[in-house]
Order: sequence, then C-alpha cells, then structure tokens
Amino acid sequence: MTAVGDRPADRDLESRNRRALEGGGRARVERQHRSGRMTARERIAHFLDPGSFEEIGRLVEHRSVGFGLERQRIPGDGVVTGYGRVDGRLLYLFAQDFTVLGGSLSEACAGKICRIMDLAVRQGVPIVGLNDSGGARIQEGVVSLAGYADIFLRNTLASGVVPQISAILGPCAGGAVYSPAITDFIVMSRGSSYMFVTGPDVISTVTHEEVSMEELGGAETHNTVSGVAHFLGDDDAECLDLIRELLGFLPANNLDDPPRRETDDPDDRDCPDLETLAPPAPDQPYDVRRLIASVVDEGDFLEVQPLHAGNLVVGFARFGGRPVGIVANQPAVLAGVLDIHASAKGARFVRFCDAFNIPLVVFEDVPGFLPGTQQEWGGIIRHGAKLLYAFAEATSPKITVIVRKAYGGAYCVMASKHIRTDLNYAWPSAEIAVMGPEGAVNVLYRRELRDAEDPESLRAERVAAYRKRFASPFVAAERGYVDEVIRPRATRRKLIAGLSSLGSKRERNPPRKHGNIPL
Ligand code: HXC
Repeated sequence: MTAVGDRPADRDLESRNRRALEGGGRARVERQHRSGRMTARERIAHFLDPGSFEEIGRLVEHRSVGFGLERQRIPGDGVVTGYGRVDGRLLYLFAQDFTVLGGSLSEACAGKICRIMDLAVRQGVPIVGLNDSGGARIQEGVVSLAGYADIFLRNTLASGVVPQISAILGPCAGGAVYSPAITDFIVMSRGSSYMFVTGPDVISTVTHEEVSMEELGGAETHNTVSGVAHFLGDDDAECLDLIRELLGFLPANNLDDPPRRETDDPDDRDCPDLETLAPPAPDQPYDVRRLIASVVDEGDFLEVQPLHAGNLVVGFARFGGRPVGIVANQPAVLAGVLDIHASAKGARFVRFCDAFNIPLVVFEDVPGFLPGTQQEWGGIIRHGAKLLYAFAEATSPKITVIVRKAYGGAYCVMASKHIRTDLNYAWPSAEIAVMGPEGAVNVLYRRELRDAEDPESLRAERVAAYRKRFASPFVAAERGYVDEVIRPRATRRKLIAGLSSLGSKRERNPPRKHGNIPL
C-alpha cells in the first residue's frame, strides 16, 4: 500500500507548492534583493503577526498563450493572496510578486485579488495591498485591462465600508497606480518605489520633457509635491511597520467602533506647557505639533501626509485610549493659512474619519485663505469648499479648540458651531473676527485715514479699539458659538470629557443617493 504523502497526488501537491513558493526563480529573487526590496512572501511574513498567514489561491495559474506565456506558468501567478492578523485583528491582503513577469496583472491575478476583496468586504475587515507591478500584463491585452477594471470597481464599492491601505514597494505603472489611488492611504518606500501613469520614456516621446523616474514619480515626489502618497518609509520594512501602526487606529469597518487601547496617561492630566505655547504677538509662529504632543495620550501622534501642505497638520492620536483624527492649522508654515493643497488634504482626511466614525478634534489658528492669482486661478474657491463641505457633512463626534486666530471664512470652515460641531472651546488667546485688525481698519476707515492729519496714530487707535472688541473669544462666547473659554492647561481634560460625552452620538444626514462634494 502506498503511504500517505507518497502517493502521486501528494508528490504533485508538493511540487506545485514548491514552485509556488519559489515565485519567479532564484535569479529574479536575487535581483529583487539586490534592488533592496523584499519578495512578496517576505513582505507578508514581515507584515503579519507571526504564523497568522493563510494563503488563498496558491495554485491558480494563468491560462494565456502566445508571446511565450504558455512556457511561463507559475502556480500562484504574479500575486500572493490570503488573510492574516495584525495585533490579533483580521485583515485580507495581496502582495504582488515582481519576480513573476514583473508582478504584471493577468486575468488570473485580478481574479485572485477580487476574491480576497470580496471576502474582506463580506467579513467587514481591512484590505491591504502590497503593490509591486509593471501594470496590465501586456501579452494578455484587453483581458488584463478588464481585470484592472474589476479591481477598480471593488475598490470603489469598498470605499467607506472597510479601510483600504496600499503600499507601493516597487515600480508601479499604468493600472497599478489607479487601484491604490482609490484606496484610503498610500505608503511609499524611499528610493525604491515609483508611481506614474506614463513613464519617463513615453513622456520624452510625447512632450520632449526629460525627467528621471525618481523625479517623476518617486516616493519623495508623491509625498511632497503631488500629495498622492500619505506616508514615506525608508525601506520595505519601515513601510510595512507604518501600516501596522496605522491599522491600530482604525475600526475594522464602518459599523465597528475604533479600537480602544489601554493607557497609563491620566485623563485629567494638566498641560501647563500650553499656557505659554502661543506667543502673545499674533504674528509670531509656534509649532502646533507641540500642542498635539502635549495633549494626546503619551504624546503619540501618527501624522498623515507630514511632508505635503505643512500649513495643515492631520493625523491620528488617542484620548483616554480612544482613537481620534486631528486637524490643526500650523502657524509655523505659511502662518497656518488655508490654501489649495491644505484644503484638499484636510477634506480627504475629514471624510475618511467621518466614513469610519472616528471622532474629529480640531485645533484652530488660521488667518484665512491664501490670497493671490495663483490660488484664485487654481480654484481655491472649489478646493476650500471641499474642506467646508467635508466638515459640514461629517456626523462623527466633532470638537474644536480655537487656539488663536479664527478669521473670516476660515472660522466657518474649521468645524465651527454653525456646521454642527458638537463642542467648541476657545483659549483666552483666541481672536474670532471677520478679518485681522489691520485689514479691518483699512477697509472700515479708508476715507477717514486718507483725510487724517496724522493717519498713523489714527490707525493705531482704531486698530486698538478693534482688537479690544474682536480679538478675543468673548463675543463668540456671549453668543454661545463657543461653549466654554478654557485655560490652555485644561485642554486634555476637556477633550477627554467631551469625547466621552459624545460616545453614543447618533446623527444622520438626509437620505439621498449621495451628495455632490465640489471635486
Ligand atoms: C508583462 C512585464 C510588464 C507588463 C514588466 N514586465 N512589466 N510583463 N507586462 N506590464 C516584465 C518584464 O518584461 C521583465 O521580464 C520583468 O517583468 C521585469 O521587468 P524589467 O523591465 O526587467 O524591470 P525594471 O527594469 O525594474 O523595470 C520595471 C518597469 C518596466 C518600470 C515596471 O518593466 C516597465 O516599464 N514595464 C511596463 C510598464 C507599463 O508601461 N505598463 C503599462 C501597463 S498599461 P523578464 O522576463 O525580462 O524578467 C496599464 C493600463 C491599465 O496598466 C489602465 C487602467 C486605467
């Protein structure tokens, strides 16, 4: 009798499994390592809790013929798919295998990715994509394009239902960039990842522009200039660790609560350093990240898009163990003014938090929207409206702290009471007005100043009177637009009490197909 493990089918299974695990073969794996990158399976092993990976579709092969494809059939094809755990929490993932035909997307690869996306949505758990792909498998033609479209549809339908996170860990071209672009967060690795719709060669032919891969679509470019990426890691390992950290703030799906974490940081901890944080002169900068670090649990803040539109700081932190999304004007960059990039960055972050019912905490110190032709012609009206729309539409718990300036439209936009913010606090240093004192006096007293014998002393007098009346939080507090004027040192305590009072908040927008955010 043939022993179990020694039957032809057993040997066949063993051989197929071995070929699947070898991917594109030793030479291509060595090439992957020489370029400083891990293989798909090494990435999965690094990313997931040890021993938690369960593979799905390991023996799937492509069925294409022509262009030599029939001789390049590898079990699993160009992507490894399955499920596993991060900090004990379930998720589904795929990792494209660049050693197999450049990780290019075949019909079979698309089928494997769609399968785990469907399972993830059915279970209500996140989808993580580790992308390393030359795009649509050129030899398969329209069939591979169809595969991409199948993935894009699923990305879109899963948006706002389960978190979707993409790591870009190699050269990603063509269709390989659009799926990540629909997901919630993109992480790129420095010096070894690229994203572009068309590469340098095509650009050179079409527009005669000469540009390197790195400059065109490298990790630095997309983290700073374009804002396509949200995080920058030094290598594969750091990118994967960043995703683990990010997942720790996110609920598994839109009906789940964000995960709470035990903390030793006392809820009622005073923050005395905040009493002297904002300089008395309103045009003096300070770093709002110091404020954030002072108030959140253990000073732990995961900044999202830290290298793009630095005048608005966004990211995740916890208060009393509860995750929140923080949105803060940054007086240390462009005086914290709102411009096109900052508005779009803020709007996207606010919508993500709202989709997953993550409370929003806003620290406001904003002189207004950036004036100028570049901004106006670039559509600051439309982009600024995105941020306004996002805050107004958001029904997750919202708390605003006005630290210093809250001028003009920016006052309305930054989660003011009028757009359904639950709790609005102000520090005594807050200045809430239609515009800054100097600008206001120039408008209100233009004629008087022109005819005055001593315009400068008249201006100083008028500015002082305006400042006395408006450069404070008290007019707003008298109206109830600000719920309480708090000492800066009490900020953490007030936020934690507020967030805990809003834990059972239920609010719904009117039924409709969907709104029409000014894109
Ligand atoms: C089939 C591909 C491939 C592809 C790479 N390979 N891309 N095979 N289809 N799309 C294969 C290569 O032939 C090679 O095979 C192996 O993968 C490794 O590729 P190299 O070129 O040697 O690697 P590298 O020098 O690192 O360059 C990587 C790259 C380059 C920048 C990604 O391969 C490249 O430019 N590929 C084409 C990218 C592209 O234009 N894609 C368009 C897809 S159109 P061997 O056997 O030699 O090892 C698209 C449309 C979708 O995606 C639209 C949806 C909106």
